[in-house]
Amino acid sequence: MTTRIIGTGCYAPEHIVTNEDLTQFLDTSDEWIRERTGIHRRHIDTGEGTTAMAVKAAQRAIENANISPQSIDLIIVATSTADEIFPNTAAMVQKSIGNNHCTCYDLNAACSGFIYGLNTAHAFIKSGIVETALIVGSETMSKTVNWEDRSTCILFGDGAGAAVVTKDETGIESIVMGSDGSNGEIISCDGRIMENRWGKRPVKNSHMIMDGQEVFKFAVRKVPEAIKELLEQANIDADQIDHYLLHQANERILSSVAKRLHVSMERFPVNLSEYGNTSAASIPILLDEMNRKNILRRGEKMVLAGFGAGLTWGATLLTW
Ligand code: ACO
Repeated sequence: MTTRIIGTGCYAPEHIVTNEDLTQFLDTSDEWIRERTGIHRRHIDTGEGTTAMAVKAAQRAIENANISPQSIDLIIVATSTADEIFPNTAAMVQKSIGNNHCTCYDLNAACSGFIYGLNTAHAFIKSGIVETALIVGSETMSKTVNWEDRSTCILFGDGAGAAVVTKDETGIESIVMGSDGSNGEIISCDGRIMENRWGKRPVKNSHMIMDGQEVFKFAVRKVPEAIKELLEQANIDADQIDHYLLHQANERILSSVAKRLHVSMERFPVNLSEYGNTSAASIPILLDEMNRKNILRRGEKMVLAGFGAGLTWGATLLTW
């Protein structure tokens, strides 16, 4: 018995900011951004927030799965940009979809969040604790970046993606997850100020700071390593995988991973041009777009893989 994805959904805010729009207030160019990243535009939140986007993606995934919201036993929202400290985003999604009994929590593994959520739900299902779970990745990255820092703000966008999973004979075949906190400072963003009657902890970086080249090096080393481990576990070759759905951070990272695995870039779908990097939402948005375009066929093998702040990484091999 394993875990199968039976429904997907996504949502992105209507407001679009093109590379050209960014040149109005940043010393950058459409050409630089396209060449270095593959990004043309991104959807930016104008006030809806992480929860509202998560709800829309979740509702679409539930409709796509054709299940009753009350049959969901577990909701995990992967986010590092929750609107509120509590209640957790998952509990607010639960309320909006019409479920009043399941386990709800948020999970922060930055851009690896959706994979961490999917693999965690799989562990719950495999152990018999739950049967059906909803995993959502929802992020308002636009509130974490400094819109005057051209080396980071051009990369990110907002959005949400979701998947419903349930107990089945076919589905997830192997999982890999890991973290290395020792190098965590290469991409970080402080939380809110800590201040009480007795003391104060100052905020160092109220916006994201990133050593882009170090993150790049980490991604192109760690992602192929994690995928190789995943394939070895399932005793399957890289060229037997039909689709590699990787976290959408930079097109050059994707092509470098493809090269290291000796797999054609055609098997690496890319939607970065439309959304930029939406952190935990990027993989489920891509998955939903492929699902709705009927690109995915039953029996096809897929690898989903994420990497991000922490540093964290995770991968999932499944049969669709
Ligand atoms: N427009 C124009 N020039 C720019 C811009 C910009 N937006 N940003 C930086 N530059 C300049 C720099 O100032 C530098 O100029 P200099 O040579 O005069 O000093 C030059 O371009 C080259 O800068 P690099 O940082 O070396 O550019 P690089 O080719 O490394 O690309 C990038 C930068 C796109 C950030 C790349 O390093 C990258 O994609 N890294 C991975 C980032 C990533 O994936 N982050 C997210 C993962 S984790 C998560 O998702 C939470």
